[in-house]
Amino acid sequence: MRVSLVVSALLLAGGASAACSSPEIDDHRHDAEDHDSGQDVDAQDVARDADSDVHDADSTDAMDADDVDPGDEADWIVALFDRGAPLGGPLTSDAGSGWQFLEIADAIPVEMTQNFSVGRELFMADWDPAPGPRAVLDGLGPYFHETSCVGCHPTSAGRPPTLLDDGDVAPGLLIRLRRPDDGQWAGDPHYGEQFQPRALASVAPEGAVHWQPHPDDRGLISPEILLTTPEDAPTLHSETRASARNSPQIVGMGLLEAIADDDLRALANAQSEGGRVSGRVHVRPDGRVGRFGWKSLHTTVLAQSAAAFAEDIGITSALHPEESCTPTQLDCLNAPSGGAPELADSGLEAVAEFQRYVGVPAFRAAPDDAQARQGARHFDAIGCADCHTPRQHTSPDAGELLASQTFFPFTDLLLHDMGPELADAVGEGDAAPSEWRTPPLWGLGLVLQRSDDARLLHDGRAATFDEAIRWHGGEALDARQRYEALSPAAQEALVHFLERL
Ligand code: HEC
Ligand code: HEC
Repeated sequence: MRVSLVVSALLLAGGASAACSSPEIDDHRHDAEDHDSGQDVDAQDVARDADSDVHDADSTDAMDADDVDPGDEADWIVALFDRGAPLGGPLTSDAGSGWQFLEIADAIPVEMTQNFSVGRELFMADWDPAPGPRAVLDGLGPYFHETSCVGCHPTSAGRPPTLLDDGDVAPGLLIRLRRPDDGQWAGDPHYGEQFQPRALASVAPEGAVHWQPHPDDRGLISPEILLTTPEDAPTLHSETRASARNSPQIVGMGLLEAIADDDLRALANAQSEGGRVSGRVHVRPDGRVGRFGWKSLHTTVLAQSAAAFAEDIGITSALHPEESCTPTQLDCLNAPSGGAPELADSGLEAVAEFQRYVGVPAFRAAPDDAQARQGARHFDAIGCADCHTPRQHTSPDAGELLASQTFFPFTDLLLHDMGPELADAVGEGDAAPSEWRTPPLWGLGLVLQRSDDARLLHDGRAATFDEAIRWHGGEALDARQRYEALSPAAQEALVHFLERL
């Protein structure tokens, strides 16, 4: 084996200090019917108003938790704490059940649960090589990263491991391959769009993935990814670059899908007029606004799921009828197939349905949790809410239970330039290497709480909320500096709030 590509994606969280304190959980149950969204105020406006009399961005004095006047409390904070707004609107599920990230929202009527259950089985199933004992569940590979969706995505057991202490990279962290090609981003000519460390017995894996810590002058660490290809296989193209990708928590996908394209465009316009941040929509070739994945590459849950089946597990579907082998990967092309396609349309649709309606874990702070409330005020005041837009609304013509809903994903789904430290030399679609979609923060506190070693940010470089914030740059540099200027108590309050999402 030889090391044929060293990818300098920057550094991984140092110290790996306790990923999160284990907070006392208040299983505060919110009632969807109590939620009053009648007095909506645009969260961006509120954030901007709050900004005017809070931080002097350049002030070096530590800002004390008490410096934020409760009188300035943004409407979304009032809605979240006092009006008991469930994070996922009608798709909120009880945080106490132990089945988070796999559970149907309580409000879903029984007649909708059958398709949901089929989809959940397919989401949890371990796929077999063809021919397998279960015809519905065979067709794994030829190349694959994992044998199931839950092999990578968080469940109630937390986020699967990614960057292991011994320098191995667990398959849960994907490696995207891209090279600049005639003004576009193409895959590697031989290895394709993802580097596949696993394969069927009859096929040689594409190689091995390792990482080493790369500390910066602040003591923060990012992962340097090392790809090793077999001696007798072609080398990676000289211009191929790699990007490590952490697996997001799958909740509330139906709500994110149901935000109107025009509302996201309006949000981007409001940001460019407001001046503090300047996100933009990722317009895809069909003219629709992308919203799924770290670079908002996919526009629908169905398309994202079909791509995941094809690239991550090696399962073909009507949307991806061919196995992901390149023309020079002959043993891949000759491997046995599990059917044409391996996943029926009804199965793909059921998996999408499961993800549309899977419950969003309830907000876990009581109305009188003063520290969480203070943390929310800081989140608003220092500009986190500019991009991690607390509140969103679905379009009136979205499907059953999804139309005209208000919910709290803490994202604007827009691409932001996050600066050179988070850039990894790989663009996707129209998104530049330094541009990333604001990730939703709902459910993330629970992911950290449940995981032994959860990682944050696109390549898993941060082990804690604090580290994730300290990596923010580019358009988010001001917000990070305001965070760094907060008093330790105020920083703790902010993290305490995030832990309850
Ligand atoms: C090898 C690990 C892995 C497997 C297996 C996997 N995923 Fe993913 N998934 C990821 C990663 C990493 C991303 C982010 C990808 C990116 O943006 O580059 C992602 C993104 C997604 C998203 C978008 C989430 C968001 O917040 O935008 C959905 C939906 C999704 N996957 C569904 C699935 C389904 C359905 C399956 C099973 C068929 C699956 N995934 C299998 C790793 C995996
Ligand atoms: C300019 C827009 C912007 C601002 C302002 C901003 N963020 Fe982010 N945030 C992002 C983007 C984009 C990412 C993903 C970056 C990456 O993974 O490389 C991110 C990632 C995160 C993550 C990790 C999420 C995950 O799934 O791993 C957390 C936590 C977070 N931000 C919290 C905050 C907090 C707290 C603040 C305020 C101090 C803040 N952000 C300000 C855009 C922003």
